[in-house]
Amino acid sequence: MKKLSLAFCCCFVSFLSFGQAVKSTLSIIPEPVKTVTKPGQFILPKNITIQAKLNKDVMPVTNYLRKKLTTATGAMVTIKGNSFAPATIKLLLTAKTDTTLGKEGYKLWVSGKGVVISANEPAGLFYGVQTLMQLLPKEIESAEVHHMRWTIPHVEITDYPRFAWRGLMLDVSRHFFTKEEVKQYIDQMVRYKFNLLHMHLTDDEGWRIEIKSLPRLTTVGAYNVKKVGEFGTFSKPTPDEPRTYGGFYTQDDIKELVKYGKEHFLNIMPEVDVPGHSLAAVVAYPELSCTPGAENYQVRSGEHMMDFSKEGIKALVDNTLNPASEKTYAFLDKVMGEIAQLFPFDYIHLGGDECAKNFWEQSADVKALMAKENLKNMEEVQSYFEKRLETIVESKGKKFMGWDEIIEGGLGPKAAVMSWRGIQGGITASRLGHEVVMSPTTFAYLDYMQSDRVMEPHVYATLRLNKSYQFEPVPDSADAKLILGGQANLWTEQVFNFRQVEYMTWPRGMAISESVWSPKAKKDWNNFYPKVEKQFARLNEAEIKYAPAMYDPDFKATMNGDKMNVELTTEIPNLDIYYSFDNSYPDRFYPKYMSALEVPEDATQLRVITYRGKEPVGRMITMPIAELKRRIGRSGQ
Ligand code: ACM
Repeated sequence: MKKLSLAFCCCFVSFLSFGQAVKSTLSIIPEPVKTVTKPGQFILPKNITIQAKLNKDVMPVTNYLRKKLTTATGAMVTIKGNSFAPATIKLLLTAKTDTTLGKEGYKLWVSGKGVVISANEPAGLFYGVQTLMQLLPKEIESAEVHHMRWTIPHVEITDYPRFAWRGLMLDVSRHFFTKEEVKQYIDQMVRYKFNLLHMHLTDDEGWRIEIKSLPRLTTVGAYNVKKVGEFGTFSKPTPDEPRTYGGFYTQDDIKELVKYGKEHFLNIMPEVDVPGHSLAAVVAYPELSCTPGAENYQVRSGEHMMDFSKEGIKALVDNTLNPASEKTYAFLDKVMGEIAQLFPFDYIHLGGDECAKNFWEQSADVKALMAKENLKNMEEVQSYFEKRLETIVESKGKKFMGWDEIIEGGLGPKAAVMSWRGIQGGITASRLGHEVVMSPTTFAYLDYMQSDRVMEPHVYATLRLNKSYQFEPVPDSADAKLILGGQANLWTEQVFNFRQVEYMTWPRGMAISESVWSPKAKKDWNNFYPKVEKQFARLNEAEIKYAPAMYDPDFKATMNGDKMNVELTTEIPNLDIYYSFDNSYPDRFYPKYMSALEVPEDATQLRVITYRGKEPVGRMITMPIAELKRRIGRSGQ
């Protein structure tokens, strides 16, 4: 009788669960593969028990979870290895591999009994924990204890990533970010299930990694003169200005970062950008240059140095390594030897982008190399360099990756390509049988402005959140099996501090995370932007900066006879825009934007602010009428 009623109850309960399954109203980013919400909530007890295998691979997950829970809830959290004891949260490794979940997938159940996360590997448990964090109230992100009901909705989630390569690139050369700031960046990345940090470690403005056999790279190459304002237009430093701005990571720092990454299931890929973008190295060791007088060069502080034109890229000082000198290859052999020892990740990124060839064209060394190796043009000279570098990298047991320029003069046999100038480089490389990571400017450049130009530090292009969200790493004509995944890149010419790193990364990083984790069919802008708003509340708790740019309108000015009209559009719906032309600050009692505005004859500025209902959500934007006039007739406003 007892057995029978139990069986009946189970059937009844599971019937109820199926019958009452409702569409997800959760706000998880990136969107999981499958979510079934159930009625009811689990309430975290005051004393929380986590049950998990007490081995070294699972401990980082358990410790992470315990820290999050104790910090925000103040609860007592006990970790138990005994699988039979009751527990609030169980982290289980599958006895038999669940093939749908792969290495990073997980299943998560929340019911009246508590929380269970199961996965094939500790990485999956970690991502299950990240999802669990997003199911808890937003206060879980706080650094202070909150005395409140800690509820978790009843839910069943099955989730795994679309791509194994889910990256963000941080340029630590143009501006240096400390080891602690890099750790904070890792903390923020893993919330959205990124697993790769690409560190752009070298450029014209600083060499940021200690190479013990080449000490001048960091004693000299890691420092420039501090300048503030609009990078690229700075005055040339004078000889008496102190060259003390910058910094570098010691090899111990790098080991610490790699270990920190590993504990967060994240790899770090180093980039050494050669043969262009190499001024810091040339200043440290001028014998690496093919140009006489390189010993007088200085590490760049942001003064004008490059001309980008349709005809090609020209450098005003020679920021390249000499491709015709054996000293260059001996140098790179030393650098790669030390870097390969420090980073366990399979790939080393060797740059290859935007290499100005105008000094190579003048060089007798380069001309002699071309004659000897039968190289027809400068692209083939670069290709010669890249192939030799690939051999060096592979001799250290690593795989070679470069920006898509490395395709131009012919690719080395095993080179992997990171496609940034759109997607075509990635398509071409994949069809030639090379591995590819997609990170096109058009969708994935986090240095681009995210609101109107009057609101942002100036960069040459704009990338709004909804455009980032359209990132699709596998174009139709690519060889899909060779696309490892995608990443977004944060170049930091105009990013002078870590708060601005955060501002530039979020929420566009969230859009990219859905493109690289979630199933393509699950992506939906109308589902995404409300989730972003919920994430903003979480970031507020965590005191992480983000750009509220999705509330800022776009301005489009046109002439109608001698009158100027201004059209305002927002990327999300149901917002009200209030405006003024009288130089005062509008609020919701001002005129509401309904259709294109006619600019009064003597107005000098248009001010706008966006509301949702009674709440101001956008920023106060002051648009000079002269700026609108300047834009008329130019494409791309
Ligand atoms: C790049 O943005 N120059 C790779």
